[in-house]
Amino acid sequence: MTTLCTHQPAWQALQAHYQSIQQQHLRDWFAADPARGTEFTEAACGLYLDYSKNRISRETMTLLVDLADQSGLRQRIDAMFRGDKINITEDRAVLHVALRAPRGASILVDGENVVPDVHAVLDQMAAFAGKLRDRTWRGHTGLPIKTIVNIGIGGSDLGPVMAYEALRHYSDRGLQFRFVSNIDGSDFSEAVHDLNPAETLFIVASKTFTTQETLTNAHSARTWCLAILKDEAAIAKHFVAVSTNATEVAKFGIDTANMFGFWDWVGGRYSFDSAIGLSLMIAIGPDNYRDMLAGFHAMDEHFRTAPFDHNLPVILGLLGVWYNNFFGAETHAVLPYDHYLGRFSAYLQQLDMESNGKRTTLDGQKIDYQTGPVVWGTPGTNGQHAYYQLIHQGTKLIPCDFIAFCRSLNPVGIHHDLLTANCFAQTEALAFGKTADEVRADGVAEALVPHRTFDGNHPTNTILVEQLTPYVLGTLVALYEHKVFVQGTIWQVNSFDQWGVELGKVLAKKIAPELDAGHAAALKHDSSTNQLINLYREKKRK
Ligand code: F6P
Repeated sequence: MTTLCTHQPAWQALQAHYQSIQQQHLRDWFAADPARGTEFTEAACGLYLDYSKNRISRETMTLLVDLADQSGLRQRIDAMFRGDKINITEDRAVLHVALRAPRGASILVDGENVVPDVHAVLDQMAAFAGKLRDRTWRGHTGLPIKTIVNIGIGGSDLGPVMAYEALRHYSDRGLQFRFVSNIDGSDFSEAVHDLNPAETLFIVASKTFTTQETLTNAHSARTWCLAILKDEAAIAKHFVAVSTNATEVAKFGIDTANMFGFWDWVGGRYSFDSAIGLSLMIAIGPDNYRDMLAGFHAMDEHFRTAPFDHNLPVILGLLGVWYNNFFGAETHAVLPYDHYLGRFSAYLQQLDMESNGKRTTLDGQKIDYQTGPVVWGTPGTNGQHAYYQLIHQGTKLIPCDFIAFCRSLNPVGIHHDLLTANCFAQTEALAFGKTADEVRADGVAEALVPHRTFDGNHPTNTILVEQLTPYVLGTLVALYEHKVFVQGTIWQVNSFDQWGVELGKVLAKKIAPELDAGHAAALKHDSSTNQLINLYREKKRK
């Protein structure tokens, strides 16, 4: 049995250290050290990280880095990049880093270099994307394709849609992109209601090609298409697949010549820079896509080589552990001050929560400490008018990452300065608050002073970047991928399986036929589930 993280000497030291500093205020730390705002910073791959507004001293960082060392982080990083099968419950390597390795690099899985295969698929994607972008790919009736609909869910949806939204500025505006994920028929119906099948291409994106939601939506798309085009031969022009499962793709009726492959060593939530990103490549073009991969790769190299105390994903990961396990913070907010990053936090939810929402160690021990936090957030400034009240004056400690850009892609009047002013103001207000005396000095009536006082001392990171580009998006996503890896290593969980989603899927398959009013067999669930099924059947008939 390996030593649990809570038994590491650094963990014990951090616990004692926490007792000694938990009452200290960011106001005092900043007053005592005028250089704090420049000292607790780090820059790499075009990202500037200011982590000075955290409840940490130099000693905290030293102890956290000790924890990383004692947890074997260096060995785990090397094992991942080497292609070791670190996803032990599925006996797989974890090599999303190979997806962005430059042509000519060598990464071995079972003795075979996988990089040439990665580039072969990228070239195949680029050739196909080129035909859609120059309108030479024609539909069954000879019309060019106007709309691309990505059908997928989880990692086969959240990454593509997040990245398409993020890089929409760079996209071909003559093409429309839509994303269908939910098994709710309304999702599919709304996505296609104004489309002409003769001008529509469906990308069915599914690593396994067995996912109920995706297959159900794909079959509905097929029916919708054939209802108008009335010829099976049309499928070849209007459906392509992205998958690791050629057998199931062929069974669905998609010619495997129109399939873009990837590999079992790419986890679903780590996959949007594989062929799963086909819709994105069509939108922004192969050159921009490759710039994005270069951004990913730059961050991979930074993560692999930088000393831990200068390593952005390691710093963010360790700070997360600090609040999660020592301050008892249960959630973590990611707040991008950029409209294009509207889906970034939703994407991070799967990345983080499906990876580290675990309670068993790699060697099967039951965990008795906190692991992955609840991750959430929406773009600034909308959140300020919704839930920031709770972050400022509520009873919970919510560490936040703020992400801001120096130049807008849409410089309209003074919008961008105002947006950024709000971002910086929030981190300042959260850190320093407003004391009762400061409130009184504003002439506020004594009865209102407690209500208008801000305790402050709320920790934040600020990531400041010049401008949102494909390269920058790659660095940001890789930053969070590796942050999740750091935390999973410390918590000793397998960040690359997701057995927790299975039970619900199995039960849904059992319940689906029981919802049919004609289902004869007696229901054998608990009394609550039986009653819900009965009521549904009854009301459905009306
Ligand atoms: O159910 C969870 C999950 O397996 C995710 O991990 C994955 O991203 C998603 O389903 C979709 O899976 P697939 O790409 O195989 O359809």
